[in-house]
Amino acid sequence: MTIVLTGGCGFIGSHQAVALLEAGHDVVLVDDLSNARESVVDRIAEIAGRRPEFHATDVRDTEALTKVLAASGCDSIIHFAGLKHVSESMERAIDYLDVNLAGLTSVLKAADTTGVRRLVFSSSGSIYGPAERVPIPETAPVNPTNPYSRSKALCEQVLAQVCAVDPSWSVMSLRYFNPAGAHPSGLIGEDPTHLISNLVPVIMETVNGAFDSVPIFGTDFDTDDGTAVRDYIHVMDVVEAHAAALDVVKTTTGFEALNIGRGEGVSVRQLITAAGDVLDRPIPTVEHPRRTGDVAALAADTTRSKKRLGIHDYRGVDTIFRDAWRFRAGRTT
Ligand code: WQD
Repeated sequence: MTIVLTGGCGFIGSHQAVALLEAGHDVVLVDDLSNARESVVDRIAEIAGRRPEFHATDVRDTEALTKVLAASGCDSIIHFAGLKHVSESMERAIDYLDVNLAGLTSVLKAADTTGVRRLVFSSSGSIYGPAERVPIPETAPVNPTNPYSRSKALCEQVLAQVCAVDPSWSVMSLRYFNPAGAHPSGLIGEDPTHLISNLVPVIMETVNGAFDSVPIFGTDFDTDDGTAVRDYIHVMDVVEAHAAALDVVKTTTGFEALNIGRGEGVSVRQLITAAGDVLDRPIPTVEHPRRTGDVAALAADTTRSKKRLGIHDYRGVDTIFRDAWRFRAGRTT
């Protein structure tokens, strides 16, 4: 099959490209390089032994995207492209709603024009907001608390509406909790060029000496140790979930959303301690007030996604840090 990956040079997109190429698919990357390096295309080819096609295109350029879909003979799309930082979205609400919502509608228009009807969407567990119970099932109320998570919730509503009125569509929305780690080769990983704000990359930069310490945003949450709890899932497990989702959308119609997490909540302090244990070095921290838009705890109920995607187990936090560090320590830029 030919799979088009929007945001395909990004963290999850680049790892997905490797896995799909290794599985024998043809892969087309569409990325505006606003938060990724073009050199990642070479790394993808180096790992997979096959080169993806690459187009430096903003997904909101519907005409250009339509040409890419038509020329490639695209069978399915994985729509990764988007802005993704909770804290940044509080300062850039309109940008987040534009890039994430207008980007999706542009992808839908290009797909509609070219007859592509199978799509896997990069959503987020943050759409649940302050959930009543954790782990959170897909049936929990959607209650976004920031422009980033609201943009993802609105995108899901758009996708569900399209599927409701046109049964030729098949869409799987994957609600990621906290992807982290890197490809075991160490050649690709989480390599943001725009903003390093996610906890695992910040820990990596601190261990590498680029940052003096890891800021702990909030120590007064209603959690065991007062720091926020998240569900960190290895990027390779996220990639395997997408590959399974592509198989599901080939044989179904309609809209479905699944949680993509490990199902285990880990606090900020626990994660930093785990990193220090795995990397066998102390990690300096400094306590700060909460970040605006953050919730106390998010962790996935994985019952349905395990069943629907055939997932049996997950890589652990120790593997996340071993792989993330191999990439960070080996990076020359
Ligand atoms: C995690 C926790 C911070 C940095 C991410 C992605 C988002 C989505 C959901 C995919 C929070 C705290 C962080 C730091 C800290 N993923 N923290 N010090 O906000 O859960 O969102 O997962 O769609 O795209 O951004 O992840 O890693 O930024 O924060 O204390 O230096 O760690 O306050 O509680 P978040 P994060």
